[in-house]
Amino acid sequence: MYLRIMSTIAVAVLLGIFYKAVVKDSAQIASEDTLVSGISYPLFDPEMAPDEIRDQVMKGYGIMLETKQHLPEYAGDKISCTHCHFSAGNSFGGKSNGFSLVGVNHKYPVTLESGKQLTLADRINGCFMRSLNGKPLPVDSTEMKAMIAYLNWISSGIPKRADYPWMGVKKLRSNHVADAKNGALIYGNKCALCHGKNGEGQQRPYDLSYPPLWGENSFNDGAGMHRPGVFAYFVYENMPYDDPRLTVEEALDVAAFVTSQDRPKYVPPQE
Ligand code: HEC
Ligand code: HEC
Repeated sequence: MYLRIMSTIAVAVLLGIFYKAVVKDSAQIASEDTLVSGISYPLFDPEMAPDEIRDQVMKGYGIMLETKQHLPEYAGDKISCTHCHFSAGNSFGGKSNGFSLVGVNHKYPVTLESGKQLTLADRINGCFMRSLNGKPLPVDSTEMKAMIAYLNWISSGIPKRADYPWMGVKKLRSNHVADAKNGALIYGNKCALCHGKNGEGQQRPYDLSYPPLWGENSFNDGAGMHRPGVFAYFVYENMPYDDPRLTVEEALDVAAFVTSQDRPKYVPPQE
């Protein structure tokens, strides 16, 4: 079984891509396929990671699902990675799948305009400091290594490319001028039931929690999600959670409303 998995992976690496026929052969590790430009890629289940990396992959997976429980000193708010990167990033984005992280390891390191190299660990820490309103995790900590092992594993079926069509924030096309007042009405009608009247969210111990959207337990004003365009795109694709069907105009209005509410300020870490 293990040899078969490894040989399947080897084939994938050799071909650079997975064709449907190859994917069928790896049905045990690949839970779902997506068709991108006529090519089908598998998703790799964390539970099916080979023995020698399985514990590490599962630890990374656990951190993505319940970040504060695992890292109370580093996660400042009550939002976990999976609340924005649905299924702990193990998805192909699009409607109802949040921000994908499949293939993300291949995108890093990137060279910034300043000439500085940004590694995957640095990028993860970007989300810790802003989306989780917390502190950067030491890059050589077992937790950071576990998250990277997890991201590497879920990207196993993806060839290296400069970018991936299922990743990233797309701009919503509209000439509409966002109206925060109308956004407040939409919020009351379509969001408050789960995220709370004051955006405070709801912890549900035995079920999916509803993360906070503003206030002291939410992402800070340095987060990508605080930018109205990013928020609107995310919400247009993914919210309301059980039925994501806002119009582009409604998404822009609710984004204008939520991003105008109080939230923590981003404080850059002291060097
Ligand atoms: C409040 C929402 C939110 C939370 C919570 C969050 N992220 Fe993100 N993350 C984003 C957004 C927005 C982006 C930028 C997406 C883009 O531009 O493609 C991003 C980007 C990333 C990227 C880079 C993706 C790329 O395409 O280069 C990584 C890696 C990442 N996040 C990991 C994490 C991890 C790990 C956690 C938990 C510690 C986390 N994120 C928590 C919103 C969030
Ligand atoms: C049926 C309950 C439900 C409704 C209604 C709902 N959401 Fe969500 N929302 C969720 C859940 C659950 C998640 C986290 C998903 C996960 O963990 O996979 C989430 C995540 C989010 C996030 C990312 C995490 C964060 O804290 O920033 C944003 C932003 C968001 N919702 C905005 C909205 C907006 C705006 C509306 C109304 C248009 C809305 N939601 C309606 C359940 C809901």
